[in-house]
Amino acid sequence: MTMPSKTILEFDDTVVTFSSGSGMLSRLAGRSTEFNAVDHVTLSVRKGEILGIAGESGSGKTTICKAALGLHGTAGGTIMLDGQKTSLTGGALQMVFQDPLSSLNPRQTVAQALEVPLRLHGHATRDGVAEAIDALLKDVGLGKQFRDRFPHELSGGQLQRAAIARALATKPRVLFADEAVSKLDVSVRAQILNLLKRLRTSHDLTIVFVTHDLHVARFLCDRIAIMYFGKLLEVGPTAQVYADPKHPYTRELLGTLDKTRPTTASTRDIFNPMTDDIRACRYLNRCPHAMEKCAKVHPDQRRTGPDHHTACYLYEDTAQ
Ligand SMILES: Nc1ncnc2c1ncn2[C@@H]1O[C@H](COP(=O)(O)OP(=O)(O)OP(=O)(O)O)[C@@H](O)[C@H]1O
Ligand SMILES: [Mg+2]
Repeated sequence: MTMPSKTILEFDDTVVTFSSGSGMLSRLAGRSTEFNAVDHVTLSVRKGEILGIAGESGSGKTTICKAALGLHGTAGGTIMLDGQKTSLTGGALQMVFQDPLSSLNPRQTVAQALEVPLRLHGHATRDGVAEAIDALLKDVGLGKQFRDRFPHELSGGQLQRAAIARALATKPRVLFADEAVSKLDVSVRAQILNLLKRLRTSHDLTIVFVTHDLHVARFLCDRIAIMYFGKLLEVGPTAQVYADPKHPYTRELLGTLDKTRPTTASTRDIFNPMTDDIRACRYLNRCPHAMEKCAKVHPDQRRTGPDHHTACYLYEDTAQ
């Protein structure tokens, strides 16, 4: 398959800000209570691709997806779907979560859960909706017998299929899957991953796949973006990033970090947005290659291979 190249969704210098801690205490301590959970991220999602977003807990993966859906406001930058602000694009963006129950009402049958979004999308007649429900169930590998089941009557894999069906009901152009297979058994996980791959083609979807699991990302994703404390550290074709990770953090994640080099500060190894200099590279404290300039300004993205960019001073800034 040739790699898609046309941008469908564009994060341009996107910032999402949250307040941290119990405001009053932090204010008394003279510290800012705000931090950027997504910090000036520029990232293009290409039509028809499966883009992975990986990084440890708290790196802003969920936040950037929710910002695209308008579930979090942005404090800076833009997020555009085909040149239109995503807040104006209705059901064109959808999200499935780790816990499918969060998008399914326990008191609604599967058919009822699908009916509202289907009606909103133009299936006004009862017959039209019924047919559309059956078609959606078929698309996600559930038989008609699941129409009248309640969420508690479904297994984990069936629930996730129902949640995916619900997301598909608005005919989205981009589907965000946030740790959508993390809670599933290995065999069920493989089935859902294969389903997503199939749906990408059959439903002309673009998928943003958020995961902790780098093995899953390798199997599924065309490209992968690595986030750390709100920053995008590296993005490139999955095969290339796995074969030759450029950012020291990506190497750490992939277990290929050069451990023979001394780390700069073993005691305060994790970035703390409340106490550390937010202008510095987020990975400074953990980086075995840290240099003086890393403490001053977080590096911009540099081109580190064909279609591969890394935010690290280890590489020359050869522009785009
Ligand atoms: N609604 C919120 N209000 C305040 N802070 C938030 C909110 N949502 C997320 N955060 C904080 O923003 C940061 C990024 O959170 P986010 O959930 O995006 O991380 P994540 O990469 O998805 O992590 P995980 O892998 O654990 O799901 C974290 O420090 C988190 O505590
Ligand atoms: Mg998350």
